[in-house]
Amino acid sequence: MDLFEYQARDVFDAHGVPVLQGLVAYTPEEAKAAAEKIGGVTVVKAQVKVGGRGKAGGVKLAKTPDEAFTAAEAILGLDIKGHVVEKVMIAQGADIDQEFYFSVLLDRANRSYLAMASVEGGMEIEQLAVEKPEALARIAVDPIRGIDAAKAEEIARAANFPEELVAKVADVFVKLYEVYNQEDATLVEVNPLVLTKGGDIVALDGKVTIDENAEFRHADHVALAEAAGGLDPLEVKAKAHDLNYVKLDGSVGIIGNGAGLVMSTLDVVAGAGEKHGGQKPANFLDIGGGASAEVMAAGLDVILGDEQVKSVFVNVFGGITSCDAVANGIVGALNTLGDAATKQIVVRIDGNNVEEGRRILAEANHSLVTVVATMDEAADKAAELAARA
Ligand SMILES: Nc1ncnc2c1ncn2[C@@H]1O[C@H](COP(=O)(O)OP(=O)(O)OP(=O)(O)O)[C@@H](O)[C@H]1O
Ligand SMILES: [Mg+2]
Repeated sequence: MDLFEYQARDVFDAHGVPVLQGLVAYTPEEAKAAAEKIGGVTVVKAQVKVGGRGKAGGVKLAKTPDEAFTAAEAILGLDIKGHVVEKVMIAQGADIDQEFYFSVLLDRANRSYLAMASVEGGMEIEQLAVEKPEALARIAVDPIRGIDAAKAEEIARAANFPEELVAKVADVFVKLYEVYNQEDATLVEVNPLVLTKGGDIVALDGKVTIDENAEFRHADHVALAEAAGGLDPLEVKAKAHDLNYVKLDGSVGIIGNGAGLVMSTLDVVAGAGEKHGGQKPANFLDIGGGASAEVMAAGLDVILGDEQVKSVFVNVFGGITSCDAVANGIVGALNTLGDAATKQIVVRIDGNNVEEGRRILAEANHSLVTVVATMDEAADKAAELAARA
């Protein structure tokens, strides 16, 4: 989950990283009020999760509250690389002397953490890394030791910070590492980290990516995720039922048990879909081994809630999960949904207690359910129904 800059600013602030005041505004009027509150020169900044905002006209200096109004008017609604600006941050203006770069991230290839720093911040760091790689220090960070004062000074010296600044920036690196470590982030990046004319080191921009797998350790991250707009409502629903759900962009909803079966079902549906105008899987939903009727019903509820889904393919091989539980889940979900259920459901069940499962479905005789004996035939039927819907 990527945070917006203003969220990163708040997280930095909570960990003692020096930041300037920042207030979020959704309208030019709110921007003006925020600028009045902060006082002095402010900077109006587009809040979108994409780099290069400044170059795209998404960062504007405002000397007065009226200028903040005008700047917000220009920035709100702007399309920056496909991201429409819905909110801006009004940041207190900094008197910048120099701009630096710092980041710490998860280095998967080396099974380690990596810190990067440069005294040439502000410009696009990708460009610097290519054109002047020697200006960007890359220092491996042992995840057990982390970045303590000594390590931070090593990073600052490797990046050629002048000796009189080393202790000062190192102190900020330690705090930024605290953010990375304590918030379970996979990236903390500050560009620019500035030296002000008054001699202070301040983080003027922040990018933070949080590892969602650690959410159980951070009750407060749920609120961040909601404000960050990162989670799709169907993902939230699936998560609440411990279902592994991944949204794709096709038309055939897929429910299976076990990742292996679900993945091969995706392939079979994509293959069958070619004969029916290019129908493709709409999602990946694994109800897991040992799924109960309730879990099956919850899975169906998630899939039927996706507007892009035109037909559903339930493909279950009963092992620990018995086919009668799957059948009861389907019938139960359809009963609960009543007239709200309008999509055709193709069911292929096999394995543990299949006879009873098929009997339950035959007895329910629901108009939306078609039971098909084999996986290939069922995939073909589901793709055909999606094409016709
Ligand atoms: N609060 C501020 N006060 C003064 N100048 C600022 C402030 N915030 C940003 N700037 C100036 O604007 C430039 C661009 O700002 P920022 O780094 O936040 O956006 P960006 O780099 O364009 O966006 P991104 O990092 O998402 O690509 C900075 O390098 C800095 O010179
Ligand atoms: Mg930046």
